[in-house]
Amino acid sequence: MDTFIAPTDRADLLRAAVSQAVEFLREGEAVALPTETVYGLAADALNPAAVARIFEAKERPSFDPLIVHLPHRKRLADVALVPPDIAETVATLIDTFWPGPLTLVLPKAPALPDAVTGGLPTVAVRMSSHPVFKAVVTSFGGPLAAPSANRFGRISPTSAAAVMKELEGRIPLILDAGACPEGIESTIIRIIPTPQGKPIFRILRAGPLTKEDLQPYGKIEWANGQPDKKGQIPPPEVPGQLPHHYAPTTPLRLVENPQDFHPEPGKRYALLSYRGDAEDGFLDLTEWDHVLVLSPGSGKLPEAALRFFHCLRSLDELGVDEIIAEPVPLRGLGMALMERLRRASRY
Ligand code: TXA
Ligand code: MG
Repeated sequence: MDTFIAPTDRADLLRAAVSQAVEFLREGEAVALPTETVYGLAADALNPAAVARIFEAKERPSFDPLIVHLPHRKRLADVALVPPDIAETVATLIDTFWPGPLTLVLPKAPALPDAVTGGLPTVAVRMSSHPVFKAVVTSFGGPLAAPSANRFGRISPTSAAAVMKELEGRIPLILDAGACPEGIESTIIRIIPTPQGKPIFRILRAGPLTKEDLQPYGKIEWANGQPDKKGQIPPPEVPGQLPHHYAPTTPLRLVENPQDFHPEPGKRYALLSYRGDAEDGFLDLTEWDHVLVLSPGSGKLPEAALRFFHCLRSLDELGVDEIIAEPVPLRGLGMALMERLRRASRY
């Protein structure tokens, strides 16, 4: 199959791209669409054959559940049941954060095919704020299942070119809207009611909405599979949060302290640096083949998130023997970046 990239940067091009995407979706095909987090591979969530196309294109194991994207918050009942004891919290979170990078895990509605949730009794659901995604899902008029548009276990794509590298020949269409503004996948939470006071939010995947963003509305707890206080990751409590994920083809090693890195003679190394600052102790460790900086000079975490997968992908393409990653601060968006670095790291 040929894969076409459709531009969306002019009103007429956008209209044509959206109607082409919707046509494919109605036929039960999977198409790649930009979201505010990463590019997603979307298909009709209520059509099991269409959902199967996603698993096939991604080579994703069937136990790994997909995220469902809604055209409108009023359509939540199509895919999920909201238990009365968390209804008020769900409404507040939706009012505050949707559309946006917050995914809620809720009991699934019977109409949603089991293939979407990998047989789980729950569904992960969100509403994207990306104008192109919104245009497609609204015009389609129903829920779209959309995992990240990469082959299973690999780096999430944050540009149409990156999707092309992952899925060329496997899907008919990629809508191109340039780089994704957030750069990392949505924050996933499960809400646990408490008899009095604030509910507990269990963070199943750290993401663009941080602990600090969420804690006015609930008590934050990190689920298994998330970094603990020392940043270590205990085994996950849901399928899909595999210990090795987001992995480049080139071996990647997260090095916590510069003293712990001992380069082997003759090997070519690339450095994924946080600030690119010599004071951090990494720049002088060896003759780096290449250095990419997540947040040049300033050490700003949102900038680092935005550039994260793009930098990883660029380093992966150099053909070095190993990518060495510096740690980032364990606060705010840094939690989400460290989670991804640990999962990408082979050590
Ligand atoms: O930002 C995002 O969330 C992107 C964009 C495209 O929307 N999507 C995304 O999907 O990251 P994906 O499939 O790459 O990651 C979905 C993860 C799964 O690996 C799984 O861990 C979790 O969501 N998940 C899905 N359904 C779940 C459920 N019922 N319970 C717990 N976790 C679930
Ligand atoms: Mg993914």
